[in-house]
Amino acid sequence: MDPAADIAKAAAALKHGGLVILPTETVYGLAADAGNARAVAAVYAAKGRPAFNPLIAHVADVATARRIARFDERAERLAAAYWPGPLTLVLPADDDAAVCDLARAGLDTVAVRAPAHPLAQALLAAFGGPLVAPSANRSGRPSPTTFADALEETGAAAAAALDGGPCVIGLESTVVALLDAPRLLRPGAVTRAGIEAVIGPLLEAEADARRSPGRLTRHYAPNLPLRLNVTDPGPNEVWLGFGAFGLPEPLNLSPGGDLAEAAANLFAYLRAADRSSAAGIAVAPIPDEGLGEAINDRLRRAAGYVG
Ligand code: TXA
Ligand code: MG
Repeated sequence: MDPAADIAKAAAALKHGGLVILPTETVYGLAADAGNARAVAAVYAAKGRPAFNPLIAHVADVATARRIARFDERAERLAAAYWPGPLTLVLPADDDAAVCDLARAGLDTVAVRAPAHPLAQALLAAFGGPLVAPSANRSGRPSPTTFADALEETGAAAAAALDGGPCVIGLESTVVALLDAPRLLRPGAVTRAGIEAVIGPLLEAEADARRSPGRLTRHYAPNLPLRLNVTDPGPNEVWLGFGAFGLPEPLNLSPGGDLAEAAANLFAYLRAADRSSAAGIAVAPIPDEGLGEAINDRLRRAAGYVG
């Protein structure tokens, strides 16, 4: 495999309106030219995603992001602190054909993020413009965190696919809206405390879930029923442990109780549990601090408690 040839092939596919399986540091994405409405429509179709749920425009750097969104002082400071990396900013859109109306679901706002993964950066450089890249799962399913899982979910719709290995973070980016008061729309690897250290207090996410259309439905869901905060699983349940709650092997999210390790394992372990012959999945309690807020958010949505 020749990485430079793979990037060139993927960039050419995007130029022709094709879709590309794209590794990022958070989860695998299904990428398309953000300015090509037909390509963007194909992304919605491949995911079975409702067209009212807007996509994130992925950019190489802040300079590109400033051409599609209006940056204020808070946006500048957050981008300086966390880009490239797992942080998405929702900002007023600037009229530019680079991100089509369909990608924004007709809103006058746009979500922008500069991913850190070297293959994502290489593809953005080769393509030379913004790419939409929703998580590569079919709508409502857990996000893929390995190349194999991405191929299984939406690979059939892709003209090219880049193997970047397992995603180091394993949860989707933090989404912060900077329209009026700053709001946390989706917790992620850049923690609430990490955001507040740069721009001050955030409004509660749940109080405002309606503003992020993708947050309304049952999400990240395996097929088997899922129970949370379980310290005493039933005989027909597969138990995803954490720390001392759980067997050390094989499906303990982090035997040492490390939240970053648990986040990286979460979706892959949910998928593994889902493939087992168990009747249900039970997950051990996860502390709610730091990255634990994002892990518990995904678990509650996977269990159908939200929306
Ligand atoms: O880590 C990530 O962000 C991954 C990787 C592939 O980059 N992408 C990802 O995209 O998670 P997606 O489409 O699965 O999630 C995007 C989220 C959705 O909840 C969507 O509703 C929200 O961002 N979003 C996008 N544009 C928005 C907007 N203008 N206003 C509010 N929420 C928006
Ligand atoms: Mg998603």
